[in-house]
Amino acid sequence: MAKLIFLIELLMGWNPENYDENYRDMMEKGLSDTEKSHASESIESSNLNLNTESVFFDAVVKFVDESFGRKHPHFERTVYWLREFMPEVTEAHLIAAYGHDIARAFDGEGTPESYLDTEHLQRHQERGAEILSDFLLKNGASSELSEKVAHLVGRHEWGGDEEQNLLRDADSVSFLETNAEGFVMKKAQVEGYEKIREKLDWMFNRIGSEERKVYAKENYKKWSDMLNASK
Ligand SMILES: [Fe+2]
Ligand SMILES: [Fe+2]
Repeated sequence: MAKLIFLIELLMGWNPENYDENYRDMMEKGLSDTEKSHASESIESSNLNLNTESVFFDAVVKFVDESFGRKHPHFERTVYWLREFMPEVTEAHLIAAYGHDIARAFDGEGTPESYLDTEHLQRHQERGAEILSDFLLKNGASSELSEKVAHLVGRHEWGGDEEQNLLRDADSVSFLETNAEGFVMKKAQVEGYEKIREKLDWMFNRIGSEERKVYAKENYKKWSDMLNASK
């Protein structure tokens, strides 16, 4: 399905420039009401295999958006890509995809010396798992749901089993669409070329299959070139 959409977009002259511009606007201004309704439409009308617990997905979206003080396109796009990669997506997967970076809203994680710092990444993913599972349990979710979400989020940076790998890959494809620009255009000036180069390469290279890398390739190349040009 994703491949088909990708090909149609290419055939119709899809312009990645406009695409990224849209996301830049969204990142800077947050979503307009129209965009919000499109975003929720795309989530609601996407053949999601939600069970009666879908109320928890909505609650987590609200919790995440309020915790960050705005809507981050990165989270919606991670949901989008995980749905493309997983034939049977459940509510736990959607919650994990939307909330995987929640720790950043809470702990003042700070800027690590290296974005690949193992301890930093470990703390980030484990803390995220804890925050989401606490939230779910406090709001009446089953321990089964809460544990599943914690399992997925707890290894979203490195992957582990097949489902954790797919969340990691969705995170990477989404990162290169929505967050890479900020790293290249802003953070590189402050934190240095090498640090951002390492992060971009790692986000692309950790994608677990050539088939899924196809969806990230274009953005990876674009932001790599931009980064080199700004050296
Ligand atoms: Fe993360
Ligand atoms: Fe992420």
